[in-house]
Amino acid sequence: MNATQLKSLLPTPAWEAISGNSEGQERDQPMTTEPCADAAPFSAASFPFVWSLDRSSDVGRALLAATRRLREAGSDTPQLDGAVLMAHVLGVSKTWLYAHPTRKLTEVEISRYETLVRRRMCHEPVAYLVGYKSFFGLDITVDRQVLIPRPETELLVERVLSYVKYLIREGHTPRIADVGAGSGAIAVALAVNAPQAFIYAIDISEDALAVAARNVWRYGLSEQVQLLPGNLLEPLPEPVDVVVANLPYVAAAALPGLPRQIRDYEPALALDGGTDGLATFGAFFDALASPAGRAKIQPGGRIYLEIGLQQGPAVRALAARALPEADIEVQVDYAGLDRIVVIEV
Ligand SMILES: C[S@@+](CC[C@H](N)C(=O)[O-])C[C@H]1O[C@@H](n2cnc3c(N)ncnc32)[C@H](O)[C@@H]1O
Repeated sequence: MNATQLKSLLPTPAWEAISGNSEGQERDQPMTTEPCADAAPFSAASFPFVWSLDRSSDVGRALLAATRRLREAGSDTPQLDGAVLMAHVLGVSKTWLYAHPTRKLTEVEISRYETLVRRRMCHEPVAYLVGYKSFFGLDITVDRQVLIPRPETELLVERVLSYVKYLIREGHTPRIADVGAGSGAIAVALAVNAPQAFIYAIDISEDALAVAARNVWRYGLSEQVQLLPGNLLEPLPEPVDVVVANLPYVAAAALPGLPRQIRDYEPALALDGGTDGLATFGAFFDALASPAGRAKIQPGGRIYLEIGLQQGPAVRALAARALPEADIEVQVDYAGLDRIVVIEV
């Protein structure tokens, strides 16, 4: 079989893998080992090569090569991904990279970069690869035990913070429960921005709380944030003024259709909201409907819940059934979509 016949039979990446490439700065080989061995579902047919850089690569050429490969692998942000990973390997800022394109890479740097880019080619989120995510102006440590904090959750923090600051101005020392704390992103952002508040960070996953502990320690908040393992509000030792919760709200049937970087890497416990996506909200409000559950929140206290875009009416109904006396408001995000439910009990 000649080269033209072979090319016509192979997908483009596989052809490039065995034929080399015009830039001469990267080398792909037909896959001999499983490049996504650590990842969950992976089909060799969907990504049939490993990738390596020329050993004399400099920053600029390595970035170009990685961007191209990450684009082919399906990243929506290949240039940014490549730059963030390179900045991580070199311990510099992204801006520094663009100012020093001719900086030669050492063998160790090349090898670390190749490993990270290959993992990103297998859809592993950049935040897990570099070990942190920016959230509310803070670097929050993350790993695969916790959901990567999302920009939309910053809106939840903003709304809670504005109420908490009002309570502080009124002379209170607010007690807050962050239920489903995960990485502790919400608890840490609140604690840093409202030093007068005290926060209980609750999660059913002790592995997640271990990550939250690292964030609490990183920001020196161990006097202000207490980590509590357990189910919903159960571990709370006293009534609180504010409950904030970003609970799992993806319907089970929607999980397989999520982007691979979410579906294959982020913890199901952080995403899976049961058949209709409302199971954890249901359990939360069932508990609040009992006198013992109701006693976990001070009279006049507030609950702030992040919800899925279609869930406003259903969560409002659950809240109204459990707390018939409460004021309930469904608030929209900057795109005008239902995103937060605020309940004054
Ligand atoms: C969507 S993640 C939110 C993580 C973090 N608060 C954030 O906003 O990035 C939901 C979290 O709720 C936790 N969780 C799920 N069910 C729970 C339950 N019944 N009680 C307490 N935590 C729960 C999960 O372990 C996960 O860490």
